[in-house]
Amino acid sequence: MCSIIGYASRSSVAPVLVDSLKRMEYRGYDSVGLATIDNGRILTRKGVGRVSAVNSSLNLITMQGQVGIGHTRWATHGGVTEKNAHPHYDCAGDVAVVHNGIIENYKDLRDDLIKSGHKFKSDTDSEVIAHLLESYSRKNLNIAQIVSNTCKRLKGSYAFVAVFENGTICGSRFDEPLIIGPADEGYFISSDVLGFLPYTDKAIFLDNKDIAVIEGKDLKLYDYDGNPLFRQITQVAWELGSIDKGKFTHYTLKEIHEQPLTIMKASSRNVEKLKLFCDIIRNSSTLYLTGSGTSYHSALVAKHLLSKFAKIRAETIVSSEFQYDLAPMDSSSVLIAISQSGETADVLQSVKDAKQMGAKILSIVNVPTSSLARISDSFLTIDCGPEVGVAATKSFTGQLSVLYSIIDELCNGCLGYQLSKLELVDALNEVLASEEQIEKIADSITASKDIYIMGRSIHYPIALEGALKIKELAYVHAEGIATGELKHGPLALIDTNSVVIIINPKDATFQDNVASAHEIKARGAMIIGISDEPDDSYDMFIKLPTVGRIHYPFLEVVPLQILAYYLALRKNADPDYPRNLAKSVTVK
Ligand code: AGP
Ligand code: GLU
Repeated sequence: MCSIIGYASRSSVAPVLVDSLKRMEYRGYDSVGLATIDNGRILTRKGVGRVSAVNSSLNLITMQGQVGIGHTRWATHGGVTEKNAHPHYDCAGDVAVVHNGIIENYKDLRDDLIKSGHKFKSDTDSEVIAHLLESYSRKNLNIAQIVSNTCKRLKGSYAFVAVFENGTICGSRFDEPLIIGPADEGYFISSDVLGFLPYTDKAIFLDNKDIAVIEGKDLKLYDYDGNPLFRQITQVAWELGSIDKGKFTHYTLKEIHEQPLTIMKASSRNVEKLKLFCDIIRNSSTLYLTGSGTSYHSALVAKHLLSKFAKIRAETIVSSEFQYDLAPMDSSSVLIAISQSGETADVLQSVKDAKQMGAKILSIVNVPTSSLARISDSFLTIDCGPEVGVAATKSFTGQLSVLYSIIDELCNGCLGYQLSKLELVDALNEVLASEEQIEKIADSITASKDIYIMGRSIHYPIALEGALKIKELAYVHAEGIATGELKHGPLALIDTNSVVIIINPKDATFQDNVASAHEIKARGAMIIGISDEPDDSYDMFIKLPTVGRIHYPFLEVVPLQILAYYLALRKNADPDYPRNLAKSVTVK
């Protein structure tokens, strides 16, 4: 989980590499490094911190050379230190390597290489790649053979790019993305199309075990047996303009405010694809939904609506648990995988396991060119544009919007979702207008160490999602609880220091929640109600507009996103880049 970029050009590459890394920083951002080739020598600069900070202190953009590679790291093996920042080197310093993923057998490889005289400088798993490339380079092999022999020794997941002193760039991948960008000035090789989109909208998506070799203006692709390969050029279309923050101080806040627009976009295209998607669901004997983090919460909302309105039972399995909990699947089973990035390793692993059992794969993604979209039998996109903030906000309501459209189609329009979207957009704008009030609420609970968020039925996944936002953005312990479960244990935690948020719109869950609120009140906790109906048990109240009863989840999550955002600011945390996290978790 990091970003990789390589570029062979006719002019100086360092400024371009730094710019690319900034755009891909969502993938990981604990340290940064560049290696360029200047007059047959490899130059390197690397340091700990975000791209702009490291660039300011090390002046990365002034590095000379028309060929180079770069990396932002999200450490898996070895601390966040300068020596562990990529690129890594062989002993002679003839080759520099950047890697994304985990080399699972790195200890064995490292021991073998040390026995044969190699000296290691870092604690990372990645460094073995540089030494393997070095050892095969000594064997009079061509570059494709050097790379394929190296890859055959690696177990785990990887995308790596290496640059040799003579200016040759090579790379390969297994279960991590690697994409070539053919541009006017030369070739890019990157973990994400965002790495090169300002320079070209053409992309060549490498498959597992493809080898790319870039020598000057020449690109060659090979398989592991050294046979030349041909891969199609794809045209990619991202609205790059939307990657700036506009009038907002953070991407996260901008993305929260984009939601009235993005829920409209999410389900207004792909009518034919939607019908096909639904036909596949109708013809399934068993239906499963999977996802990680926020995307799993969308799956929980969908499960509820599928059962209640489309009369279809679905099982939800959190993707990281899927392999331990292999449900019986066959060719009549369908797995719906939900993922903003389409690159989450846990999700991709679940899909692989399900495919192996013959199941059909449907997916809901934001990135149509992602690995998940490409291995699915059919996919729908949420079309919410790049989501830069690590916390999923607009992608969550975008996923809900697509899921509501699917369920509406399955129950012949019984949700009335398409018709109610305009009403929902107005209601969302109303909720967003309470930002200042929510900021004040954040001020009054800044000191709290535990926040409990409760909801019943379809609102319970929203409680989980709100708690996730507060944990990841504000670093405060928060717990989502199905309100009825309170009396089965969590009530023991409630005292005068607790903050409890109750999601309680005026629907069938209202009265039971009010009763629970009074039980909480009796223990002295501070209660924040989120509802279209006030209650005297609430110390603070966030008013929701009244909408059709199944549409509340779209509205309820927004105050929780805003609250988490302002709590992060009060804690001096950067809401766009929470500590220890990355946007795309491409390692297991
Ligand atoms: C959400 O705020 C988190 N950053 C995280 O839980 C995220 O939803 C999860 O990693 C799944 O990502 P995906 O949707 O790209 O697969
Ligand atoms: N495993 C490598 C490391 O810890 C790469 C991690 C990443 O993908 O950022 O350095």
